[in-house]
Amino acid sequence: MTQKRQTLIAMLLSFLAGALSVVGFVLLGQFSQDGHPLVPAAHANAAQPLPQPPTPPTPWLKGTADEKFTQIERHLRGLDVTMAEIGYRYGELLLAGKTRNWEYAQYQTEKIDFALRLAIERRPKRAKSSEPFLNESLSEVMKAAKAKDAEQFDAALERLHSGCVQCHKAENVLYFKESVDRIKERSK
Ligand code: HEC
Repeated sequence: MTQKRQTLIAMLLSFLAGALSVVGFVLLGQFSQDGHPLVPAAHANAAQPLPQPPTPPTPWLKGTADEKFTQIERHLRGLDVTMAEIGYRYGELLLAGKTRNWEYAQYQTEKIDFALRLAIERRPKRAKSSEPFLNESLSEVMKAAKAKDAEQFDAALERLHSGCVQCHKAENVLYFKESVDRIKERSK
């Protein structure tokens, strides 16, 4: 018999011994010497009902499969929730720039890109106005973060800020400018 096989058998035996002693303890705990349970089982005691299994959530999708998809689409929302996400990520990106944390800066840039691309998949009429932001402003930030070029990165972030505002202007929601400015102010 090889050394390896002997070790394997020894491991199996000690596992079996362990399992048996667990069974022994459980049985000892359940029964006294005369065979009656020492601790009455929970279901035998009316004052202590068994814990109820959690109630399954009430299904909220209604109607046919098509109607359910439409409902899910509504819940996935348009650009508003994505913009709240992008606002947060933009703030973190600015802070990553301050601490020169290039990996984190790349991460946030990627997520802004991804979140916006998914959002325009849901709202294709916003695709055109997001193009300069995605293809120029954001990709410049990414390039600078990858190059770990602080000066280039700071300049790219300034242009990114204008990129946000330009798209808001194109989309007739320029009143968000103060919100975008506030994110920048908070990240100083
Ligand atoms: C497609 C072009 C586009 C780009 C690029 C863009 N936004 Fe927006 N943003 C919008 C639109 C459209 C809305 C309004 C959404 C709505 O009304 O459903 C909006 C809304 C917002 C809001 C308000 C969200 C809310 O509901 O509270 C914030 C904050 C915001 N954007 C931040 C940013 C920041 C920061 C950037 C840049 C990093 C940016 N946006 C880039 C189009 C854009």
